[in-house]
Amino acid sequence: MRILGIESSCDETAASIVEDGERLLSNVVNSQINIHAEYGGVIPEIAARSHLEVINPVIKKALSDANCTWDDIDAIAVTYAPGLIGSLLIGTLAARTLAIIHHKPLYKIHHVEAHVYANFINQQSGNLSLSLPKKQPSFPLLSLIVSGGHSQLVLFQNHGDYQLIGQTQDDAVGEAFDKVAKILGLPYPGGPSISKAAKLGDPHAFTLPIAKLQGKYDFSFSGLKTAVLRAVQRGVGKDFTFPSHELPGLVDDKLRHDMAASFQFTAIKTLVDKTRQAYDDFQPASVVIAGGVAANQELRHQLSAALPLSIDYAPIQLCTDNAAMIAALGYYRAQIDQPTDPYDLEVQPSLSMTSI
Ligand code: KG4
Ligand code: ZN
Repeated sequence: MRILGIESSCDETAASIVEDGERLLSNVVNSQINIHAEYGGVIPEIAARSHLEVINPVIKKALSDANCTWDDIDAIAVTYAPGLIGSLLIGTLAARTLAIIHHKPLYKIHHVEAHVYANFINQQSGNLSLSLPKKQPSFPLLSLIVSGGHSQLVLFQNHGDYQLIGQTQDDAVGEAFDKVAKILGLPYPGGPSISKAAKLGDPHAFTLPIAKLQGKYDFSFSGLKTAVLRAVQRGVGKDFTFPSHELPGLVDDKLRHDMAASFQFTAIKTLVDKTRQAYDDFQPASVVIAGGVAANQELRHQLSAALPLSIDYAPIQLCTDNAAMIAALGYYRAQIDQPTDPYDLEVQPSLSMTSI
């Protein structure tokens, strides 16, 4: 079964074709990072306009890269939740229209659940060369989902059968990377730029706090972000009243690199400690990481060192937002769900994974 996936929930317009939930035939991603970088974050109106400009060419390229015509496509899967409303509307409207005119079943996909399915793609057609996992993960599956909007631990007993066991009580970890990068004067998006700066710094230069929470598998990153702000203010000889947006001009390279490394070490240790705790308690058959922050090499190193099983990581290109994960989940959803009425699909910008 060949599924065309369409993703437009935030600042990537993407389309991809995946066969039987595991074989990648094409993967087209148009990133808006350069457009939003000058504002230091995603501007929703600009994101929606950019999706509108590129969505048709992106879908066309996904078909041609896969050597497919519409006759070769069995169904369409599209992100309908969660995300920016204007962005979600463009992808869903495109998908609904295409489902109607080409008479294809349409499946609505939850973006955060789909991130986990990047780990199910283990084959690709000849013109692609991603370093994919060798086999699919087995159930019960513990997934650490870490992105710009989410930090959660979800235990899957099977496709579509899962339980949220822990989550952030405040900021998502990706959001913390983005905010700390701003304090240090590093470019948007913060995750990759902090990782790069951290390579030049000492992860033990600053001792930063790890929040103690009631929920055994819950996270918190807002105290860590404030601790970074206070340490940087002190580091440049200012007190806590000094405005954070003036800090980048005063931070020198040593402080920038040491703080990037110390922050990254602590944020990742928080994620790894909770994942280890959940692993010990639930004894899953496999563990996967998913979402933009899963691209982080320090996370991969610390997690592999902390767990007694080997982890087959998904390639970085499938960790950040893409439509291959949407098409992959579309296949498994098609085995359990009825198709959605294309005349009646509404977007749900703040739907969490627990309420599907
Ligand atoms: O999954 P994603 O592409 O979009 C959302 O669904 O949010 O995740 C984006 C987040 C951003 O906060 C970005 O800073 C973070 O993922 N990110 C990283 C890395 N690459 C992207 N965080 C840490 N290390 C990275 N290498
Ligand atoms: Zn995402």
